[in-house]
This record gives sequence, C-alpha cells and structure tokens, in this order.
Amino acid sequence: MEYHPTIVSFLCNWCSYTGADLAGTSRMKYAPNVRVIRVMCSGRVDPTFVLTAFEEGADGVLICGCHPGDCHYHEGNYKCLRRYKLLQMYLQQMGIEKDRLRLAWISASEGKQFAHLADEMTAAVKALGPCKIKENIETLS
Ligand code: FES
Repeated sequence: MEYHPTIVSFLCNWCSYTGADLAGTSRMKYAPNVRVIRVMCSGRVDPTFVLTAFEEGADGVLICGCHPGDCHYHEGNYKCLRRYKLLQMYLQQMGIEKDRLRLAWISASEGKQFAHLADEMTAAVKALGPCKIKENIETLS
C-alpha cells in the first residue's frame, strides 16, 4: 500500500494563509497531504503545538509566516525562527529527523511558492517514511 504522509501546516493569517488560499483559488495543484491550521501569526505557534501534532500522528510539520520585516505583529516571525531552531535540535535529540519540521516565509502573493513548498515537503517526508515519535516517546517513558 502506498504511504501518504500527513503534514500539519500552521499558516499565519495575514500572509501565508492568504498565499495558500491564492494557490487554491488559482486552481494550482499541490499535494493534498497538507492539513492547514490558521494562526494569527507564526509567533503564535507554541512549541507544544508542534510536538502535539507529531504525537497525534503528523509525519511532518510545516510552519509558514510573513517574510522577515513583514510580520503584522512586528517580530512574531523572528520569535518563531528562534523557536524553530530550538525545536529542530530537540526533535533530533528525540530521534526525529529535522527535515520533518520546516519553517518558510510565504507572502500573500506567493501561491505558487506555497504549492511548490507543499509538494516539496510531502516528497521529502514521504522519502523519510512514517514518523516514529510515538515509539520513541514510549521507549523513553
Ligand atoms: S503576522 Fe505573519 S508571521 Fe506574524
């Protein structure tokens, strides 16, 4: 049976969600594996959101925000970037490949880039196979 990864995607309301919406309204085709959760800002993505997504069965997590300098809350995306770097290290320590978590900047006009990103991340996670975080958590506890 063919493996179809699930990718939970947190998109900031002002830029990235609109960019993803543009991809949809422009009828661009992209991998249907991405499950979108709209947040007001990428800075709102608490690390526990990411860990919970993995615990609940996500094979990959994608966070998208406004480009640097464009965040509607001034520095939410910088806060997100710092958390992302720490999360990648944390996930690696838990035996989770760092490529399962990705941060990207997508503006409201970048529907094409979002579609490409969704395809690219789906292919990358598919190559990694199913996420083993549950097994790793059970081993640790
Ligand atoms: S509002 Fe888009 S990243 Fe902050």
